[in-house]
Amino acid sequence: VRTVLVIGIGTGDPEHVTVQAIGALRRVGVVFVVDKGEATDDLVRLRREICDRYAARPVRLVAIEDPPRDRAPADYGAAVADWHAARAAAWGRAIAEELGEDEVGAFLVWGDPSLYDSTIRVLDAVRTQGVVPFEHEVIPGVSSVQVLCARHRIPLNRVGEPVRITTGRLLAADPRIVEDVVVVLDGQQAFRAVDGDVRIWWGAYLGSPDEILIAGRIGDVTDEIVRRRAEARARKGWILDVYLLRPPEQT
Ligand SMILES: C[S@@+](CC[C@H](N)C(=O)[O-])C[C@H]1O[C@@H](n2cnc3c(N)ncnc32)[C@H](O)[C@@H]1O
Repeated sequence: VRTVLVIGIGTGDPEHVTVQAIGALRRVGVVFVVDKGEATDDLVRLRREICDRYAARPVRLVAIEDPPRDRAPADYGAAVADWHAARAAAWGRAIAEELGEDEVGAFLVWGDPSLYDSTIRVLDAVRTQGVVPFEHEVIPGVSSVQVLCARHRIPLNRVGEPVRITTGRLLAADPRIVEDVVVVLDGQQAFRAVDGDVRIWWGAYLGSPDEILIAGRIGDVTDEIVRRRAEARARKGWILDVYLLRPPEQT
């Protein structure tokens, strides 16, 4: 039976690829690459480097074109559901047509597949659609959140305290910080609306040679983050950044 591996590859440092992920890559004959039309050359190149470095034999790259997506829908939930169904149909076709009966294929997922990534959800939908039978396995990867904490040398949570993971869009809708919050996918720099006494640990291009780390009181470091972020984004043409917000300690 066809096997599909969902392999977490870390967030930019080839040394963050785990021994288990390397073992998985050695089994793979086909790597499916989802063409989002917006993928930067740098990120595509990194994936290719990981294949070249760790795969046992030359892998065949199969591009799956992403269906177009309504970026400003009236009904966000329905639009995402439609888009996932169209994606699942395209992925199902690719698995049926490009993967031999006993072949192993893979999706290489940035960071860890469980964190703000839809690969697992789309594959579940492919199975539900029932077009092609396949087994699948998920291999965890080092996530951007883990690299953020490691590079700042901090624990993610305070003793016995919870941590919420959210997006820039949701933080912008409600920027009050009453517990520790990790923010991903923040193109709008929602941290600018957060109370100045909140502490931030911010990181961009984590795990790559371009990594930038800034930490401090929001009131003290926001301008620096905005400036460094804009400079880096202009220079490279893209940016990935993530941060942890922690409310001021109660006295
Ligand atoms: C679609 S989510 C995918 C997260 C990924 N699965 C992970 O485990 O990190 C993309 C977001 O992750 C964060 N991210 C991913 N890679 C990063 C990196 N190298 N440096 C900083 N943030 C990163 C950014 O917040 C980015 O907007």
